[in-house]
Amino acid sequence: MNLILKPAETYRGDYSVRNSDAAILRFPFPFPEDSYMYSVNIEPHVPGGPSVAYDAAFDLDEHYIGECADRAITLADDPMRCIVMPHLIDAEWDTLELLMESLAKDYPEQFVLTKDGAVWHWVNHPLGIDQKFTFGDATTLPYPPFEFITRQVQGDFTLQDQRDNNLFVEGGMVTAQADWSLNFDAGMSFMEWHAPVPLAHQSGVFERALAYLLRLQYGKPVRRLNWTLTANPRLDTSPENYPIWGPEKAAITPENVGERLCLRVELQTLTRLPRSNAILFGIRGYLIRLEELTRVKKWSRRMHRLIRDLHPDIATYKGMSGYRQTIIDYLGSFDDGAPTSSGTASEQTSL
Ligand code: HEM
Repeated sequence: MNLILKPAETYRGDYSVRNSDAAILRFPFPFPEDSYMYSVNIEPHVPGGPSVAYDAAFDLDEHYIGECADRAITLADDPMRCIVMPHLIDAEWDTLELLMESLAKDYPEQFVLTKDGAVWHWVNHPLGIDQKFTFGDATTLPYPPFEFITRQVQGDFTLQDQRDNNLFVEGGMVTAQADWSLNFDAGMSFMEWHAPVPLAHQSGVFERALAYLLRLQYGKPVRRLNWTLTANPRLDTSPENYPIWGPEKAAITPENVGERLCLRVELQTLTRLPRSNAILFGIRGYLIRLEELTRVKKWSRRMHRLIRDLHPDIATYKGMSGYRQTIIDYLGSFDDGAPTSSGTASEQTSL
């Protein structure tokens, strides 16, 4: 797969990160229609979709180096962003194997994996990593296996153990989350960690989603999209660091909303792991400033109508109450009233 990497840009401080035209056109715009309600929007994770972001098992893009650097900063400040309970050691190795094999297959110019029995050799060219280790022997790696590999992949990951007809989140690398905490949720069951979400419990969305996931088969991963809004392209919007990013939300004005406010989309993948029978949940986040998004006419119109008509409980849960009208006014100036076609692809080949 074609992968052109930018030098590291920043996701804090001066927020230097910008999307190239190519990155805007490949953005996984999440809205197939002009309105939105929670649903069990799960589909097979097979290569292909409305943009090339769906082509790889684990999508990488131009921001790879900057996102890995930002993760390292967050981990240095708070090592509890990576937690794996000891009984999930098999799931750690499952994850390492899956991610190394997938990256080496999808991006052979950047990543090379060779195996000689249990002795593996991993080369990550963009990050300058060259590591020989013995599969199954954690003492041969500089970090535990799950942390070693998830430091080298864009997006957060959690590990769910399956027992008693339920899923329990008992591991993860979470440095780019939309206002939830792995340290707080660790050990919770599916319904417990979803407790704060409005409306979806009453409509049975979570019951159906859990029933589906309990039957997830090895070799048949699935995916879904989730979205929220974030002030500034900040990856680490954790509850722990709310004192840093909370005031940035309050500083959104009609003058800066286009530049600062970002649509944050999560391309979530769910994969059954072979040895542990755990489920790996990948949360691959994408950030796009509204001024970048409005370069695609169809997306501006659709998002204007969707935010305008969004159920107030969902708007409150997603934290947009303070600036909802500001967004509606900004996006409304791009809405010419034309009907939007179905589908999510930009349908523009250039910007
Ligand atoms: C098994 C892996 C999963 C994990 C670890 C996970 C985790 C989470 C977490 C931590 C939240 C935020 C809750 C909070 O506010 O504290 C959340 C929100 C949510 N999850 Fe999941 N989830 C998983 C799978 C799913 C599935 C399969 C669905 C399918 C319906 C789903 C639907 C949702 C929805 C609708 C929200 C609210 C999102 C929003 O409005 O921004 N989740 N999830």
